[in-house]
Amino acid sequence: MKAFVTCVLLLIASGSVAFADTIAVIGTGQVGSALGPEFAAQGHDIVYGSRNPDSQKVKDLVAKTPGNASATLPQDAIREADIVVLAVPGMMVEDIVRGLGDLSGKIVIDPTNPLTGDWSKEIRIGVSTSNGRIIQDAAPDAFVVKAFSTLNWRQMVEPGGDISIPLVGDSDEAKAKVAEIVSGMDLQPIDLGDIDNARWVEGMTILLLNNRIAGRPPFEYHLRVVNE
Ligand SMILES: NC(=O)c1ccc[n+]([C@@H]2O[C@H](COP(=O)([O-])OP(=O)(O)OC[C@H]3O[C@@H](n4cnc5c(N)ncnc54)[C@H](OP(=O)(O)O)[C@@H]3O)[C@@H](O)[C@H]2O)c1
Repeated sequence: MKAFVTCVLLLIASGSVAFADTIAVIGTGQVGSALGPEFAAQGHDIVYGSRNPDSQKVKDLVAKTPGNASATLPQDAIREADIVVLAVPGMMVEDIVRGLGDLSGKIVIDPTNPLTGDWSKEIRIGVSTSNGRIIQDAAPDAFVVKAFSTLNWRQMVEPGGDISIPLVGDSDEAKAKVAEIVSGMDLQPIDLGDIDNARWVEGMTILLLNNRIAGRPPFEYHLRVVNE
């Protein structure tokens, strides 16, 4: 995580702390544990939604999250949240979203990938549409933005150079808000259209992971906008 103190001073100087959001991070695995502290370092209040909010693992995560962080059950975490992050197993998103309750009016960040298949041979997309579409259909009055699905959790914390983050979603306003957060992590947001493009963004991950499984040289994604 980047220097928190410097970040807070910059945020105070720029006045952006005044626009802090409450962000519910659902799931406290690799992605939730990477994104929660990163978002908090930008001045947002994080509430983790965990099946075991009193576990030592979750207490440790809350303790390492800057600012006003807390943890509770997923359906309680979303109540006061402006933004909800679904850092949960990719093949379970529909059930998890339906179990969360009313997400109307909230921005829902979807970093998930619907992965299935044999991890020692070849993985596949496990749905016929995309998780982005499935989540938007399950929460029709939420503003779903797919983001962070194309890079490893380690690069979310330490990008180590230029990495672009494809954003897809039907609301330009929601994508602009997520783009601000992405930029605050020293990553480059790139708008790739509406939520149905989530199918192709999720496919990028399949390509990346199967390349690793095959033992070919690993790569990461850095899309570059061209001026024509
Ligand atoms: N790992 C990466 O580098 C990476 C990168 C990009 C995208 N992704 C995608 O992001 C999503 C999260 O990945 P992850 O690596 O963070 O997964 P993970 O380490 O397995 O964590 C998933 C978390 O989801 C929560 N959860 C809620 N319901 C669950 C259930 N029924 N079974 C198991 N866990 C449940 C758990 O948190 P609680 O125990 O607190 O409830 C769990 O820790 C996946 O869709 C993955 O494809 C992963």
